[in-house]
Amino acid sequence: MPRRTRLSAPSLFLILIALLPIASALRPIVLVLTSEDLKDSPDSDPPDDSPEWDEFGDPGPASASDDDHDPGSWRPALELSTSSNSSSDDPHEALYLSGIRTMISAASSGDPAAMDSAASDIEAAASAGHSNAQSALAFLFSVGLGRPQSRTKSYLYHHFAADAGNMQSKMVLAYTYFRQDLYDKAVKLYAELAEAALASFLISKEPPVMEPVRIHSGTEENKEGLRKYRGEDNEDFHITEYQAHKGNAVAMYRMGLLYYYGLRGVRRDYAKAVYWFSKAVEKGDPRVMELLGEIYARGAGVERNYTKAFEWLTLASRQQYYSAYNGLGYLHVKGYGVEKKNFTKAREYFEKAAENKEPGGHYNLGVLYLKGMGVKKDITSACKHFLTAANAGQPKALYQVAKMFQKGIGLKKNLQMSQTKCFEARFADLLLESVLADRCYGSATLLYKTVAERGPWSALSRWALESYLKGDVGKALLLYSRMAELGYEVAQSNAAWILDKYGEQSMCMGESGLCTDTERHLHAHSLWWQASEQGNEHAALLIGDAYYYGRGTERDYERAAEAYMHAQSQSNAQAMFNLGYMHEHGQGLPFDLHLAKRYYDQAVEVDAAAKLPVLLALTSLWIRKNYADSFLVKLRLALDLHVVCES
Ligand SMILES: *[C@@H]1O[C@H](CO)[C@@H](O)[C@H](O)[C@H]1NC(C)=O
Ligand SMILES: *[C@@H]1O[C@H](CO)[C@@H](O)[C@H](O)[C@H]1NC(C)=O
Ligand SMILES: *[C@@H]1O[C@H](CO)[C@@H](O)[C@H](O)[C@H]1NC(C)=O
Repeated sequence: MPRRTRLSAPSLFLILIALLPIASALRPIVLVLTSEDLKDSPDSDPPDDSPEWDEFGDPGPASASDDDHDPGSWRPALELSTSSNSSSDDPHEALYLSGIRTMISAASSGDPAAMDSAASDIEAAASAGHSNAQSALAFLFSVGLGRPQSRTKSYLYHHFAADAGNMQSKMVLAYTYFRQDLYDKAVKLYAELAEAALASFLISKEPPVMEPVRIHSGTEENKEGLRKYRGEDNEDFHITEYQAHKGNAVAMYRMGLLYYYGLRGVRRDYAKAVYWFSKAVEKGDPRVMELLGEIYARGAGVERNYTKAFEWLTLASRQQYYSAYNGLGYLHVKGYGVEKKNFTKAREYFEKAAENKEPGGHYNLGVLYLKGMGVKKDITSACKHFLTAANAGQPKALYQVAKMFQKGIGLKKNLQMSQTKCFEARFADLLLESVLADRCYGSATLLYKTVAERGPWSALSRWALESYLKGDVGKALLLYSRMAELGYEVAQSNAAWILDKYGEQSMCMGESGLCTDTERHLHAHSLWWQASEQGNEHAALLIGDAYYYGRGTERDYERAAEAYMHAQSQSNAQAMFNLGYMHEHGQGLPFDLHLAKRYYDQAVEVDAAAKLPVLLALTSLWIRKNYADSFLVKLRLALDLHVVCES
């Protein structure tokens, strides 16, 4: 249960937000907004000269692809079928693309000479002012790939590229500021990126959460998890396809979904999706009717036709498929496929969806109340609807909530606190039994970051996983390294794990030639470190071990203790045990048998398997040897918002 805290000022709105690390028994975090927070504050905020974001979004030209939202995407080099030669009349663009292609193939084949030539092409294009090449060059400098590692040069080129509109460089900068606790800067960029991410969704129906796929579980490959992501090579896929061909409606629907969203390692293919949906809809499935409505509104794999969209959505809604009401409302807000705009009608549709527990309906109603469209403008109602939708994980609503927090006075304090500091505060909290740590995760920055990470640039993850599954580990490492730079925790730990596991083979490349051992260790260390900062407990443990045993770095008990505390704060039994051990032996932590015992007790509480070693007071080696591999790395952060808007 979240605890509730009220600020002293008489509050119009009391908003409590709890963000729980998944599968952890930690006390949720509570945040409070006051009435002041939701007011437009013209004097404190400089006027925003960017045009108002259209909450309902517009489909954009039918030909719009993810690449329009993600200029400089490496897609042309990764999906050969979609690459065209049309844009290569620009010599710098051609140089850039050839550089990227060479870079990727050099990573695949582990060919340092080719990597060097790729770096030269990219650098030449970057020097000529090609912004996407600048972004790629910044990456090379950042990891020390074909170029000497240089944070300064990396930052500089990302800055140029971001100024020219490269979204991936903006992600890098936002994450850099985030790590440096420069929240004012981070929050601005993440807000913009979150908008761009949302712009690729339509109506209020979003693709399901892109599952971050971990290729490892602890120190071992995550075989079971990976099996599901083999795309068209997957056995389940073959079975589904077979059943679909046999006329099974559910299988047809699933085939359509796999292609429409590009799930389970299957490449997105609208034409194939429409093919299967059209077959399934003959069997009268309302889910498919709604999707066809969306497909016609988007013009995805078909010619856009709002009239048809309206027809399909109406059919779906008649079968009590309530989320279809969102689509109908959307068409009335926009005046597409209907006689004219009618906000009142739109509101009625959204209410119908909301009454039937459709989070999208709540989001849409929130927007109407926020803007005063078809209703009297009412921030309290808007707030309530957004929070209901956000609790159901609706990404646009998360964005709206983040925006409220960003403007929030009560929350400005929270923006100052980094996650690392939160972990420390949590630890202090544990020691002092105080309530110090109640204001950490919910910063607007983190909410925006969560949304921003769903942007089209997350496609890198699919290509990386695909490469890994095909045994192209070098390419997977390259792509995960790029994503790691963008701030994705899963990519950071995947890249680090690949380096540890395969690094001695020739796929790791450094400044010139193959990686030296030092380069490899430093690189892996820095990736694990970033992952641990973002709450990855396995990473925190590895960092702790590295300092404890002096592996790849100087032995340093204090830093080891610090890293174990990160892991401990996520209820990691092994880290608790280690902390107990360090207190018991006065290594890096004050000699304190009382505290040592407390940690041992906690370790047992969290994981009964820790009982034996604790009782025997064996060294941490004991657990490591016997249990290290059984600790699953947990998903970094799940959002669980417990909220009350008061009027
Ligand atoms: C692109 O151009 C190259 C060389 O001019 C040619 O070999 C290749 O077939 C072209 N690819 C496409 C997709 O047109
Ligand atoms: C759109 O769909 C409607 C109804 O199915 C049809 O009458 C109309 O011709 C279509 N419009 C276009 C441009 O294809
Ligand atoms: C808009 O919709 C409402 C409710 O369905 C209806 O009563 C009203 O007449 C419509 N307004 C216009 C201008 O068509």
